[in-house]
Parts: sequence; structure tokens; C-alpha cells
Amino acid sequence: MPRTRVAAVADVPPGHMRLVVIGQQKIVIYNCSGTLYASENTCPHLGAALSEGVLIGTEVTCPWHHWSFDVTTGACTSNPLAPKPLTVFPTTVEGGEVWVDLP
Ligand code: FES
Repeated sequence: MPRTRVAAVADVPPGHMRLVVIGQQKIVIYNCSGTLYASENTCPHLGAALSEGVLIGTEVTCPWHHWSFDVTTGACTSNPLAPKPLTVFPTTVEGGEVWVDLP
């Protein structure tokens, strides 16, 4: 899927995250002090919805087993043995709209 508009910047205030559904994909948009990021919604551990977790700074914490991920890179910051990172997507802002490059 090409570059896709996923939200208005105003829909995701600083310090907040928002779940959006694009076709079959669930994407989480994060506003970290005014910079926007995006990732898959599914936790790489056992599949919880990260949109139901907690965002602090640039780290989202999963609601189930509390693994944390850096939303800027997808790296797991709480478990060095995590089998795979969170999938993150290139995100840009243009004209007050949030655009994500989806696979
Ligand atoms: S499902 Fe997210 S940490 Fe286990």
C-alpha cells in the first residue's frame, strides 16, 4: 500500500496515541512531543493491542505483559531477548495531515 493519509494532526494531541484502521491493517499513530510516529497495533510478543497500552515519551508499553517498545525504531526496550521488534512505518506530516508509508 502506498503513502496513506491516516489522520489529521489535530486528532492525535502531543503525548497521545490513536488507533486507525486502514483496509485490513490496524495502525497506531503516536504523537511524541509534536513528532508523529506509526507502528503496527499488534504486540510482537503475544499479540495484544498496543493502542490499549501506555505511551510515555517515545516508549509504548504493552497492556498484557508490559514489554516496552521505542516507537521511533521499533526496538524492544524492556526485553533484550525479544524475538523481533515492533514494525514501525515511515511517517510524515504535510498540511496538518499525518501520512504513513504502509507496506
Ligand atoms: S503481548 Fe505484549 S508484552 Fe506480551
